[in-house]
Amino acid sequence: MQGPLENPDLREIIDEYDNLIVFGAGITGVWLFNHLNDHGYGERTLCVIDNDHKKHGTKICDQLTIEDVTYLEGLGNEALSKSLVINTISDIQETWDQGNSFGCAKQIAIGTFIDTDIVQAHTKILDLTDVYGKGNYIAHSLECAMHAHKAYFSKSTIFLRSLDLMVTERCSLKCVDCSNLMQYYTRPKSEDKDELISGLKHFLSKIDHLFELRLIGGEPFVHNEIYSIIDECSSMVNISKISLYTNSTILIREEQFKKFKAGLGKLYFSITDYGDLSYKLQENIDILNRLNIPYRCHAPEFWTDSGRIIYEERTEMELQELFNKCCGKNLFTLSGGRFYRCPFAANLDRLSDELHDKHNYINIDEVTKESMNKYVNDLKYLPACKNCKGRSYDSEQIKPAIQTNKVLDICAIT
Ligand SMILES: C[S@@+](CC[C@H](N)C(=O)[O-])C[C@H]1O[C@@H](n2cnc3c(N)ncnc32)[C@H](O)[C@@H]1O
Ligand code: SF4
Ligand code: SF4
Repeated sequence: MQGPLENPDLREIIDEYDNLIVFGAGITGVWLFNHLNDHGYGERTLCVIDNDHKKHGTKICDQLTIEDVTYLEGLGNEALSKSLVINTISDIQETWDQGNSFGCAKQIAIGTFIDTDIVQAHTKILDLTDVYGKGNYIAHSLECAMHAHKAYFSKSTIFLRSLDLMVTERCSLKCVDCSNLMQYYTRPKSEDKDELISGLKHFLSKIDHLFELRLIGGEPFVHNEIYSIIDECSSMVNISKISLYTNSTILIREEQFKKFKAGLGKLYFSITDYGDLSYKLQENIDILNRLNIPYRCHAPEFWTDSGRIIYEERTEMELQELFNKCCGKNLFTLSGGRFYRCPFAANLDRLSDELHDKHNYINIDEVTKESMNKYVNDLKYLPACKNCKGRSYDSEQIKPAIQTNKVLDICAIT
Protein backbone atom coordinates (compact mmCIF):
# COMPACT_ATOMS: atom_id res chain seq x y z
CA MET A 1 0.00 0.00 0.00
CA GLN A 2 1.56 3.29 -1.12
CA GLY A 3 1.86 5.77 1.70
CA PRO A 4 4.05 8.18 3.63
CA LEU A 5 6.25 5.42 5.06
CA GLU A 6 7.88 5.11 1.65
CA ASN A 7 9.31 8.52 2.50
CA PRO A 8 12.72 8.00 4.23
CA ASP A 9 12.34 11.33 6.09
CA LEU A 10 9.30 10.02 7.92
CA ARG A 11 10.90 6.67 8.65
CA GLU A 12 13.92 8.46 10.05
CA ILE A 13 11.69 10.37 12.50
CA ILE A 14 9.75 7.26 13.48
CA ASP A 15 12.91 5.22 13.98
CA GLU A 16 14.02 7.58 16.74
CA TYR A 17 11.21 6.39 19.03
CA ASP A 18 10.55 3.05 20.71
CA ASN A 19 6.79 3.51 20.80
CA LEU A 20 4.17 4.90 18.45
CA ILE A 21 0.80 6.28 19.50
CA VAL A 22 -1.77 6.87 16.76
CA PHE A 23 -4.08 9.75 17.68
CA GLY A 24 -7.51 9.44 16.01
CA ALA A 25 -9.43 6.27 15.15
CA GLY A 26 -11.16 7.69 12.09
CA ILE A 27 -10.54 6.40 8.57
CA THR A 28 -7.09 7.99 8.36
CA GLY A 29 -6.12 6.55 11.77
CA VAL A 30 -7.23 3.02 10.84
CA TRP A 31 -5.50 3.32 7.48
CA LEU A 32 -2.29 4.50 9.16
CA PHE A 33 -2.33 1.59 11.58
CA ASN A 34 -2.52 -0.82 8.62
CA HIS A 35 0.23 1.09 6.85
CA LEU A 36 2.47 0.93 9.94
CA ASN A 37 1.79 -2.81 10.17
CA ASP A 38 2.71 -3.31 6.51
CA HIS A 39 6.05 -1.62 7.17
CA GLY A 40 6.90 -3.65 10.24
CA TYR A 41 5.95 -1.00 12.83
CA GLY A 42 2.90 -2.89 14.14
CA GLU A 43 4.58 -4.12 17.33
CA ARG A 44 5.83 -0.65 18.22
CA THR A 45 2.35 0.84 17.85
CA LEU A 46 1.15 0.84 21.44
CA CYS A 47 -2.35 2.18 21.04
CA VAL A 48 -4.85 4.25 19.11
CA ILE A 49 -6.27 7.11 21.17
CA ASP A 50 -9.64 8.66 20.34
CA ASN A 51 -11.88 11.20 22.09
CA ASP A 52 -15.11 9.44 21.09
CA HIS A 53 -16.26 7.34 24.06
CA LYS A 54 -18.35 5.13 21.78
CA LYS A 55 -15.20 3.79 20.10
CA HIS A 56 -13.37 2.87 23.31
CA GLY A 57 -12.82 -0.83 23.83
CA THR A 58 -13.47 -1.68 20.16
CA LYS A 59 -10.64 -3.14 18.10
CA ILE A 60 -8.97 -1.94 14.95
CA CYS A 61 -8.46 -4.79 12.46
CA ASP A 62 -9.02 -7.27 15.34
CA GLN A 63 -5.68 -6.19 16.80
CA LEU A 64 -5.35 -2.91 18.64
CA THR A 65 -7.96 -1.61 21.08
CA ILE A 66 -9.09 2.00 20.79
CA GLU A 67 -8.33 3.73 24.07
CA ASP A 68 -9.32 6.83 25.99
CA VAL A 69 -6.52 9.36 26.74
CA THR A 70 -6.41 8.16 30.35
CA TYR A 71 -4.84 4.93 29.05
CA LEU A 72 -1.59 6.87 28.59
CA GLU A 73 -1.30 7.48 32.35
CA GLY A 74 -0.86 3.73 32.82
CA LEU A 75 2.13 3.62 30.46
CA GLY A 76 4.35 5.60 32.82
CA ASN A 77 6.73 8.49 32.15
CA GLU A 78 9.60 6.29 31.00
CA ALA A 79 7.58 4.78 28.13
CA LEU A 80 6.01 8.13 27.25
CA SER A 81 9.40 9.78 26.97
CA LYS A 82 10.25 7.28 24.20
CA SER A 83 6.94 7.71 22.40
CA LEU A 84 5.92 9.52 19.25
CA VAL A 85 2.31 10.70 18.78
CA ILE A 86 1.09 10.60 15.18
CA ASN A 87 -1.93 12.87 14.84
CA THR A 88 -4.35 11.70 12.11
CA ILE A 89 -7.31 13.96 12.91
CA SER A 90 -8.42 16.50 10.28
CA ASP A 91 -9.67 18.91 12.93
CA ILE A 92 -6.07 19.51 13.93
CA GLN A 93 -6.72 22.94 15.44
CA GLU A 94 -8.86 21.09 18.03
CA THR A 95 -6.41 18.30 18.77
CA TRP A 96 -2.83 19.52 18.30
CA ASP A 97 -2.54 21.06 21.77
CA GLN A 98 -4.21 18.00 23.26
CA GLY A 99 -1.66 15.73 21.52
CA ASN A 100 1.17 17.84 22.94
CA SER A 101 -0.27 17.45 26.42
CA PHE A 102 0.02 13.62 26.34
CA GLY A 103 3.53 13.87 27.84
CA CYS A 104 5.18 12.09 24.89
CA ALA A 105 8.54 13.05 23.40
CA LYS A 106 7.12 14.43 20.15
CA GLN A 107 4.00 14.79 18.03
CA ILE A 108 3.80 14.84 14.22
CA ALA A 109 0.83 15.46 11.91
CA ILE A 110 0.50 12.68 9.33
CA GLY A 111 -1.11 14.97 6.74
CA THR A 112 2.13 16.89 6.34
CA PHE A 113 3.66 13.65 4.94
CA ILE A 114 0.82 12.93 2.49
CA ASP A 115 0.96 14.17 -1.10
CA THR A 116 -1.38 14.01 -4.09
CA ASP A 117 0.31 10.84 -5.43
CA ILE A 118 -0.56 9.02 -2.22
CA VAL A 119 -4.16 10.29 -2.43
CA GLN A 120 -4.38 9.21 -6.09
CA ALA A 121 -3.07 5.76 -5.24
CA HIS A 122 -6.08 5.25 -2.95
CA THR A 123 -8.90 6.46 -5.19
CA LYS A 124 -9.73 2.94 -6.37
CA ILE A 125 -9.78 1.46 -2.87
CA LEU A 126 -13.26 1.11 -1.44
CA ASP A 127 -13.92 1.27 2.24
CA LEU A 128 -15.18 -2.24 2.87
CA THR A 129 -16.50 -1.40 6.32
CA ASP A 130 -19.16 0.70 4.63
CA VAL A 131 -21.82 -1.89 4.03
CA TYR A 132 -24.05 -0.23 1.47
CA GLY A 133 -21.80 2.50 0.20
CA LYS A 134 -19.34 2.87 -2.53
CA GLY A 135 -16.81 5.59 -2.82
CA ASN A 136 -13.25 6.33 -2.07
CA TYR A 137 -13.45 7.16 1.58
CA ILE A 138 -9.78 6.49 2.16
CA ALA A 139 -8.68 8.87 -0.59
CA HIS A 140 -11.18 11.46 0.67
CA SER A 141 -9.91 11.22 4.27
CA LEU A 142 -6.24 11.27 3.30
CA GLU A 143 -6.76 14.28 1.06
CA CYS A 144 -8.62 16.09 3.83
CA ALA A 145 -5.86 15.35 6.38
CA MET A 146 -3.24 16.46 3.85
CA HIS A 147 -4.86 19.86 3.26
CA ALA A 148 -5.92 20.44 6.88
CA HIS A 149 -2.54 19.58 8.41
CA LYS A 150 -0.47 21.50 5.86
CA ALA A 151 -2.70 24.58 6.18
CA TYR A 152 -2.53 24.43 9.99
CA PHE A 153 1.24 24.86 9.95
CA SER A 154 1.22 27.43 7.16
CA LYS A 155 0.57 30.70 8.95
CA SER A 156 -0.71 32.46 5.82
CA THR A 157 -3.54 30.16 4.68
CA ILE A 158 -7.20 30.30 5.67
CA PHE A 159 -8.37 26.72 5.24
CA LEU A 160 -11.76 25.31 6.20
CA ARG A 161 -12.25 21.57 6.32
CA SER A 162 -16.02 21.68 5.93
CA LEU A 163 -18.87 24.17 5.56
CA ASP A 164 -22.62 23.52 5.60
CA LEU A 165 -24.59 25.67 3.19
CA MET A 166 -28.22 25.91 4.32
CA VAL A 167 -30.12 25.91 1.03
CA THR A 168 -33.58 25.59 2.53
CA GLU A 169 -35.64 25.53 5.73
CA ARG A 170 -38.08 23.14 4.05
CA CYS A 171 -38.05 19.40 4.47
CA SER A 172 -40.01 16.46 3.07
CA LEU A 173 -39.99 14.89 6.56
CA LYS A 174 -40.69 16.41 9.95
CA CYS A 175 -38.46 14.74 12.52
CA VAL A 176 -39.43 15.84 16.00
CA ASP A 177 -35.77 15.88 17.15
CA CYS A 178 -34.10 17.31 14.03
CA SER A 179 -30.79 18.86 15.14
CA ASN A 180 -31.18 21.49 12.41
CA LEU A 181 -34.46 22.63 14.03
CA MET A 182 -36.70 22.11 10.97
CA GLN A 183 -39.54 21.11 13.30
CA TYR A 184 -39.90 24.73 14.52
CA TYR A 185 -40.44 26.47 11.17
CA THR A 186 -44.04 27.61 10.66
CA ARG A 187 -43.54 28.91 7.13
CA PRO A 188 -40.29 27.37 5.96
CA LYS A 189 -38.82 28.80 2.80
CA SER A 190 -35.97 28.07 0.45
CA GLU A 191 -33.07 30.45 -0.02
CA ASP A 192 -32.99 32.56 -3.15
CA LYS A 193 -30.50 30.88 -5.48
CA ASP A 194 -28.73 34.07 -6.59
CA GLU A 195 -28.33 35.35 -3.03
CA LEU A 196 -27.07 31.97 -1.93
CA ILE A 197 -24.46 31.79 -4.68
CA SER A 198 -23.30 35.39 -4.34
CA GLY A 199 -23.02 35.00 -0.54
CA LEU A 200 -20.97 31.84 -0.98
CA LYS A 201 -18.69 33.45 -3.57
CA HIS A 202 -18.19 36.42 -1.28
CA PHE A 203 -17.28 34.11 1.59
CA LEU A 204 -14.89 32.08 -0.58
CA SER A 205 -13.15 35.26 -1.71
CA LYS A 206 -12.14 35.76 1.93
CA ILE A 207 -10.57 32.33 2.46
CA ASP A 208 -7.98 30.28 0.57
CA HIS A 209 -9.43 26.81 0.48
CA LEU A 210 -12.64 25.03 1.46
CA PHE A 211 -12.17 21.27 1.37
CA GLU A 212 -15.82 20.21 1.53
CA LEU A 213 -19.02 22.17 0.93
CA ARG A 214 -22.05 20.30 2.31
CA LEU A 215 -25.37 21.27 0.74
CA ILE A 216 -27.90 20.78 3.45
CA GLY A 217 -31.31 21.86 4.74
CA GLY A 218 -33.88 20.61 5.56
CA GLU A 219 -33.92 18.50 2.48
CA PRO A 220 -31.78 20.08 -0.27
CA PHE A 221 -33.75 18.34 -3.06
CA VAL A 222 -36.94 20.29 -2.20
CA HIS A 223 -35.21 23.43 -3.50
CA ASN A 224 -36.53 23.97 -7.01
CA GLU A 225 -33.15 25.20 -8.27
CA ILE A 226 -30.99 22.64 -6.52
CA TYR A 227 -29.40 21.31 -9.72
CA SER A 228 -28.22 24.70 -10.84
CA ILE A 229 -26.96 25.40 -7.28
CA ILE A 230 -24.93 22.17 -7.31
CA ASP A 231 -23.51 22.95 -10.75
CA GLU A 232 -22.54 26.50 -9.81
CA CYS A 233 -20.92 25.39 -6.56
CA SER A 234 -18.98 22.69 -8.43
CA SER A 235 -17.42 25.32 -10.68
CA MET A 236 -15.96 27.28 -7.72
CA VAL A 237 -12.24 26.73 -7.83
CA ASN A 238 -11.30 26.86 -4.17
CA ILE A 239 -13.78 24.12 -3.20
CA SER A 240 -12.44 20.54 -3.46
CA LYS A 241 -15.61 18.50 -2.79
CA ILE A 242 -19.37 19.04 -2.79
CA SER A 243 -21.44 16.74 -0.55
CA LEU A 244 -25.19 16.40 -0.80
CA TYR A 245 -26.97 15.46 2.40
CA THR A 246 -30.32 13.86 1.63
CA ASN A 247 -33.07 11.77 3.24
CA SER A 248 -33.81 10.07 -0.12
CA THR A 249 -37.52 10.85 -0.12
CA ILE A 250 -37.22 12.60 -3.49
CA LEU A 251 -36.17 11.01 -6.76
CA ILE A 252 -33.02 12.69 -8.04
CA ARG A 253 -33.00 13.70 -11.70
CA GLU A 254 -30.37 11.82 -13.63
CA GLU A 255 -30.75 13.97 -16.75
CA GLN A 256 -30.03 17.14 -14.77
CA PHE A 257 -26.72 15.77 -13.51
CA LYS A 258 -25.71 14.82 -17.04
CA LYS A 259 -26.11 18.47 -18.11
CA PHE A 260 -23.68 19.87 -15.51
CA LYS A 261 -21.14 22.23 -17.04
CA ALA A 262 -18.75 21.64 -14.14
CA GLY A 263 -18.96 17.82 -14.45
CA LEU A 264 -19.57 15.40 -11.59
CA GLY A 265 -16.01 14.97 -10.33
CA LYS A 266 -16.42 16.89 -7.06
CA LEU A 267 -19.76 15.36 -6.07
CA TYR A 268 -20.40 13.02 -3.24
CA PHE A 269 -23.70 11.93 -1.60
CA SER A 270 -24.42 11.24 2.05
CA ILE A 271 -27.76 9.47 2.21
CA THR A 272 -29.53 8.88 5.50
CA ASP A 273 -31.55 5.69 5.25
CA TYR A 274 -34.73 6.31 7.27
CA GLY A 275 -36.17 2.91 6.31
CA ASP A 276 -39.69 3.09 4.86
CA LEU A 277 -39.58 6.90 4.94
CA SER A 278 -36.67 7.00 2.47
CA TYR A 279 -38.79 5.41 -0.18
CA LYS A 280 -36.69 6.56 -3.17
CA LEU A 281 -33.55 5.01 -1.73
CA GLN A 282 -33.01 2.15 -4.14
CA GLU A 283 -33.90 4.20 -7.20
CA ASN A 284 -31.51 6.96 -6.13
CA ILE A 285 -28.71 4.48 -5.47
CA ASP A 286 -29.22 3.00 -8.95
CA ILE A 287 -28.97 6.49 -10.45
CA LEU A 288 -25.80 7.32 -8.50
CA ASN A 289 -24.25 4.02 -9.59
CA ARG A 290 -25.08 4.80 -13.22
CA LEU A 291 -23.64 8.31 -12.89
CA ASN A 292 -20.62 6.95 -11.04
CA ILE A 293 -21.10 9.48 -8.22
CA PRO A 294 -19.65 8.20 -4.92
CA TYR A 295 -22.06 7.95 -2.02
CA ARG A 296 -22.37 6.73 1.49
CA CYS A 297 -25.72 5.37 2.57
CA HIS A 298 -26.08 4.96 6.30
CA ALA A 299 -28.72 4.44 8.97
CA PRO A 300 -29.36 7.55 11.13
CA GLU A 301 -26.32 7.48 13.36
CA PHE A 302 -26.28 8.26 17.05
CA TRP A 303 -29.17 10.69 17.39
CA THR A 304 -29.10 12.77 20.54
CA ASP A 305 -31.57 15.12 22.15
CA SER A 306 -29.94 18.06 20.36
CA GLY A 307 -33.02 19.34 18.51
CA ARG A 308 -34.65 20.98 21.50
CA ILE A 309 -34.68 24.70 22.23
CA ILE A 310 -34.51 25.09 25.97
CA TYR A 311 -33.81 27.71 28.57
CA GLU A 312 -31.90 26.64 31.63
CA GLU A 313 -29.92 28.82 34.00
CA ARG A 314 -26.28 27.83 33.53
CA THR A 315 -23.10 29.28 34.94
CA GLU A 316 -20.24 30.48 32.70
CA MET A 317 -18.34 27.33 33.65
CA GLU A 318 -21.23 25.07 32.69
CA LEU A 319 -21.63 26.83 29.34
CA GLN A 320 -17.92 26.51 28.62
CA GLU A 321 -18.01 22.83 29.49
CA LEU A 322 -21.08 22.24 27.30
CA PHE A 323 -19.33 23.97 24.39
CA ASN A 324 -15.99 22.19 24.94
CA LYS A 325 -17.64 18.80 24.89
CA CYS A 326 -19.97 19.59 21.98
CA CYS A 327 -19.15 17.75 18.74
CA GLY A 328 -21.47 20.13 16.85
CA LYS A 329 -19.29 23.19 17.46
CA ASN A 330 -17.26 22.72 14.29
CA LEU A 331 -20.18 22.10 11.95
CA PHE A 332 -19.49 25.49 10.38
CA THR A 333 -22.57 26.79 8.64
CA LEU A 334 -23.25 29.56 6.14
CA SER A 335 -26.74 30.90 6.55
CA GLY A 336 -28.30 34.21 5.53
CA GLY A 337 -24.93 35.85 4.75
CA ARG A 338 -23.47 34.84 8.11
CA PHE A 339 -20.82 32.38 9.17
CA TYR A 340 -21.78 30.21 12.18
CA ARG A 341 -20.08 27.58 14.31
CA CYS A 342 -23.05 25.22 14.16
CA PRO A 343 -26.45 24.67 12.51
CA PHE A 344 -28.24 25.00 15.86
CA ALA A 345 -27.10 28.61 16.28
CA ALA A 346 -27.77 29.39 12.60
CA ASN A 347 -31.33 28.13 12.79
CA LEU A 348 -32.05 29.58 16.22
CA ASP A 349 -31.14 33.02 14.84
CA ARG A 350 -33.44 32.49 11.86
CA LEU A 351 -36.30 31.27 14.03
CA SER A 352 -36.43 33.86 16.76
CA ASP A 353 -35.81 37.59 16.79
CA GLU A 354 -35.84 37.42 20.56
CA LEU A 355 -33.10 34.78 20.82
CA HIS A 356 -31.14 36.11 17.83
CA ASP A 357 -27.70 37.30 18.97
CA LYS A 358 -25.03 38.95 16.84
CA HIS A 359 -22.31 37.23 18.85
CA ASN A 360 -23.44 33.87 17.45
CA TYR A 361 -21.82 34.56 14.06
CA ILE A 362 -19.50 36.65 11.89
CA ASN A 363 -21.04 38.59 9.00
CA ILE A 364 -19.41 37.52 5.75
CA ASP A 365 -18.31 41.13 5.22
CA GLU A 366 -16.35 40.97 8.47
CA VAL A 367 -14.50 37.73 7.66
CA THR A 368 -10.73 38.22 7.91
CA LYS A 369 -7.94 35.90 8.97
CA GLU A 370 -7.97 37.54 12.42
CA SER A 371 -11.76 37.42 12.91
CA MET A 372 -11.89 33.79 11.70
CA ASN A 373 -9.02 32.78 13.95
CA LYS A 374 -10.71 34.34 16.94
CA TYR A 375 -14.13 32.84 16.13
CA VAL A 376 -12.82 29.37 15.27
CA ASN A 377 -10.10 29.04 17.92
CA ASP A 378 -10.73 31.38 20.85
CA LEU A 379 -14.46 31.29 21.47
CA LYS A 380 -15.48 29.99 24.90
CA TYR A 381 -19.15 29.39 23.92
CA LEU A 382 -21.91 30.90 21.80
CA PRO A 383 -24.94 32.79 23.13
CA ALA A 384 -27.00 30.04 21.40
CA CYS A 385 -25.46 27.44 23.74
CA LYS A 386 -27.73 28.87 26.47
CA ASN A 387 -30.72 27.43 24.61
CA CYS A 388 -29.13 24.16 23.52
CA LYS A 389 -28.64 20.76 25.12
CA GLY A 390 -25.35 20.29 23.25
CA ARG A 391 -24.06 17.24 21.42
CA SER A 392 -21.34 15.49 23.38
CA TYR A 393 -19.86 12.04 22.75
CA ASP A 394 -21.39 10.86 26.02
CA SER A 395 -24.91 12.22 25.33
CA GLU A 396 -27.71 9.73 25.62
CA GLN A 397 -28.82 8.18 22.35
CA ILE A 398 -32.45 8.71 21.30
CA LYS A 399 -34.74 7.06 18.75
CA PRO A 400 -34.10 8.78 15.42
CA ALA A 401 -36.55 10.33 12.97
CA ILE A 402 -39.81 10.13 14.96
CA GLN A 403 -42.25 12.04 12.78
CA THR A 404 -44.65 14.76 13.89
CA ASN A 405 -47.31 16.58 11.93
CA LYS A 406 -47.32 19.59 14.23
CA VAL A 407 -44.93 22.52 14.15
CA LEU A 408 -43.16 22.69 17.51
CA ASP A 409 -43.76 25.87 19.43
CA ILE A 410 -40.56 27.82 20.05
CA CYS A 411 -42.25 30.02 22.69
CA ALA A 412 -43.43 27.10 24.77
CA ILE A 413 -39.98 26.63 26.20
CA THR A 414 -39.16 30.00 27.75
C1 LIG B 1 -30.17 17.74 9.48
S1 LIG B 1 -30.01 16.43 8.34
C2 LIG B 1 -30.22 17.23 6.77
C3 LIG B 1 -30.12 16.29 5.59
C4 LIG B 1 -31.30 15.35 5.35
N1 LIG B 1 -32.55 15.94 5.55
C5 LIG B 1 -31.16 14.11 6.22
O1 LIG B 1 -31.92 13.97 7.19
O2 LIG B 1 -30.30 13.30 5.90
C6 LIG B 1 -28.30 16.04 8.38
C7 LIG B 1 -27.92 14.88 9.27
O3 LIG B 1 -28.22 15.21 10.61
C8 LIG B 1 -28.68 14.03 11.26
N2 LIG B 1 -29.48 14.43 12.44
C9 LIG B 1 -30.65 15.09 12.46
N3 LIG B 1 -31.09 15.23 13.73
C10 LIG B 1 -30.18 14.65 14.54
C11 LIG B 1 -30.08 14.46 15.96
N4 LIG B 1 -31.00 14.89 16.81
N5 LIG B 1 -28.97 13.82 16.41
C12 LIG B 1 -28.00 13.39 15.56
N6 LIG B 1 -28.05 13.51 14.22
C13 LIG B 1 -29.14 14.14 13.71
C14 LIG B 1 -29.49 13.34 10.19
O4 LIG B 1 -29.70 11.95 10.46
C15 LIG B 1 -28.66 13.59 8.95
O5 LIG B 1 -27.75 12.53 8.77
S1 SF4 C 1 -33.30 15.21 10.11
FE1 SF4 C 1 -35.41 14.90 9.43
S2 SF4 C 1 -36.46 16.89 9.62
FE2 SF4 C 1 -34.23 17.21 9.80
S3 SF4 C 1 -33.64 17.80 7.81
FE3 SF4 C 1 -33.28 15.59 7.90
S4 SF4 C 1 -35.19 14.60 7.27
FE4 SF4 C 1 -35.61 16.77 7.58
S1 SF4 D 1 -23.91 23.53 22.42
FE1 SF4 D 1 -23.45 25.43 21.37
S2 SF4 D 1 -21.94 24.86 19.82
FE2 SF4 D 1 -22.94 22.98 20.47
S3 SF4 D 1 -24.64 22.68 19.01
FE3 SF4 D 1 -25.44 23.79 20.79
S4 SF4 D 1 -25.30 25.93 20.22
FE4 SF4 D 1 -23.96 24.81 18.84
